[in-house]
This record gives sequence, C-alpha cells and structure tokens, in this order.
Amino acid sequence: MFDRRKMLLWAATTAAIPALCAAAPARAEDAVKIGLILPMTGGQASTGKQIDNAIKLYMQQKGDTVAGKKIEIILKDDAAMPDNTKRLAQELIVNDKVSFIAGFGVTPAALAAAPLATQAKIPEVVMAAGTSIITERSPYIVRTSFTLAQSSTIIGDWAAKNGIKKVATLTSDYAPGNDALNFFKQHFTAGGGEIVEEVKVPLANPDFAPFLQRMKDSKPDAMFVFVPAGQGGNFMKQYAERGLDKSGIKVIGPGDVMDDDLLNNMGDAALGAVTAHLYSAAHPSQMNKDFVAAYKKAFGNRPGFMAVSGYDGIHLIYEALKKTNGNTDGDKLIEAMKGMAWESPRGPISIDPETRDIVQNIYIRKVEKVDGELYNVEFETFNAVKDSGKTKK
Ligand code: PHB
Repeated sequence: MFDRRKMLLWAATTAAIPALCAAAPARAEDAVKIGLILPMTGGQASTGKQIDNAIKLYMQQKGDTVAGKKIEIILKDDAAMPDNTKRLAQELIVNDKVSFIAGFGVTPAALAAAPLATQAKIPEVVMAAGTSIITERSPYIVRTSFTLAQSSTIIGDWAAKNGIKKVATLTSDYAPGNDALNFFKQHFTAGGGEIVEEVKVPLANPDFAPFLQRMKDSKPDAMFVFVPAGQGGNFMKQYAERGLDKSGIKVIGPGDVMDDDLLNNMGDAALGAVTAHLYSAAHPSQMNKDFVAAYKKAFGNRPGFMAVSGYDGIHLIYEALKKTNGNTDGDKLIEAMKGMAWESPRGPISIDPETRDIVQNIYIRKVEKVDGELYNVEFETFNAVKDSGKTKK
C-alpha cells in the first residue's frame, strides 16, 4: 500500500542527509591520530596513569573534535623501557599513521623516539621527561613538562640563602638525576654551601635504606633528593623508618619527591620539606581549583605534576590543530606551537620559540597540613623560568 505520508517523510529525510553530513563535525577519514606512549605498568606507572587521566579529562571537557577533525588517542604501554618505546613509536608511525607521538614517562624513552620523529617529520610532544638535552635531539620535539634545571637551580640558590650550610645529596642514577645534582650543586656551592655526601641510587626498584644511613652519618643540615615521580612515597617511608625526620635532616629538592599524587599518604615525616617545582595541587588560582575538583571527581584522587603536564600537552596539540585549521603537516604544527602561551592549572606557561621547551613559573613550596591533608604550600614565585641547562645556546 502506498503511504504518501511515509513517502514524504522519507524524501525529506533523504534530502537532509547531505546537509547533515556537511555539518557533521568529523568523519572517520578526517580523524587525527595521536600515538600516546606511556609507562602504564612497572615502576613509573603512576606517571602514565596521571597523564592518561588528564588527557581523558581534557577531552571530556573540550570534546573530541578539533578544526573539524576527530581526535583519536592510541595508547601504548612501554613500561618506561626505551626499546619498547622505539618499537611502539615505529608501529604507530608506520602502521597507524599517527600525526603526533606524545607522552614519554622517562628521559630514555623520549630520547629513543627522537630520531623517529625527525624521520617522520611529526611532532613529539614530551609530557613527562625532564632532562634538558631532550629538545635538542629533534627539531620536532616540544615539551610541556619541565626540566630539572628549572627547579634545581632555584632550590640551590634558596638553600644557600636560607641558612642551609651542609647538604647530602641522594639522586636517581640516570640523566635527570644527574641534571638535578649538577644544577643544584653549581648554585648551592656558588652561594657558599658545602656538599658533605653524595649518593646515587639505581632507577629500578631502589632500596634507599643503606644510603639513608650514610646520609644520617654525614650529619647534613638538609638532604637534597631527586627521585622520579612515583618513588617519593617509598623514599619517605624509608626516610621516616630510619629516623631521619627525628634527627632534623630536612628534605629539599625539586618537587618530584613530593608529588601530590603520593604526598597525602607520606605521613607527618614529610612536613616541612621545601621543594621548588612547577605545580602544587594547592596552587591558589581558580583554574587550578576547578582542575583539582574535576580530576578528583573523575578519578577519585588528586592530580600531581605529571597530570598537569599531560593536560597541557593535549591542550598544545588541540591549539596547534586549531591554528593550522586541521592541517597535520608536522612542520606547520611545530611552527604553530612555537611561542604559544596560555594559562595552565600550574599558572602561566609558554613554549619558547627558540628551544621548543616550556617556560613556566617555578614555585618554592613547603609541606604543610591544610584541613587535615598534606599539601605543598607555595610561598615564593619565580616568574617565566626558561630552561638553563641546554648545551647549545
Ligand atoms: C625523566 O626520566 O626525565 C623524569 C621522570 C620523572 C620525573 C622527572 C624526570 O619526575
């Protein structure tokens, strides 16, 4: 039976289809793929989790379409092993045809991917690793995390100016630990300070106990500590068990050891630790308050500095795509990223157009109890700090 009403409806709907398609924000072939390589397992998994969470949150808030293109994240777990990173980056570039590689929980992973970004001419957005040389390894690397030089120079000056005369150092024995140690030492000793003990601990599964005894015996005013994100909780547990808190040896350092992700479970031994860093969950801006509340609501815990680095990393990708109008040419994207400036939950940040490295405020903070919880409370700000650790100028 001929149903005229149905027929008219069908005709009207069919006519509307092309219009709908034109208005549709993105089709599958318009997708922009981002290869996200993170340590989701192993000792650095807290970094991977924070960055993955933050990217999910950002995309929830801003949508998954930019300049008419659908953003597709392809997450791969490299367990922070550079051989895995390299293999995964290669697969993502060759098989998945990603337009960006991003993430990189540790320096060796970021370095392993650098030649591939250069070859493929696609941006490598470093969202975690912190050794200064990284951005020099490829003109396609842009960093939204931090460098150890940014925080360690500042805490070195601060310690020398604030009555700390003797320091024992404990640093993770790989590239960012060496950056932290060297930049701290330069600034602390230039200000009149003395290093009385220096130990380096292995990156993988470190047992701090034997080193802590040496620290205690050297009777420093403070100990300078760099361990990568994820290890601070274990370090502070052993620090308290060995009674270093009771012997008045304060912890100072870059803020990695006091990562907000773990801080609240460290107990009162952490009280009074003074660190210099890019981010505190207690940063008093409205934007940060909103960020912390949204992150807590979505994932049940506080964001740390790795979460913020990931949140800013995906923002940089979104904004670069907006600027190129969805064009995924790597050179155009890198040009779009250079000099970009915005407000982050950590404060104002930008991408140095010469080095493609992040320029950000570094805050000096002290661990205090606020409403029954431990926080890094910021008390001094150094504005727009550039990385000072590059080999080339
Ligand atoms: C790094 O491997 O570059 C790294 C990782 C975690 C940190 C800092 C630096 O907290």
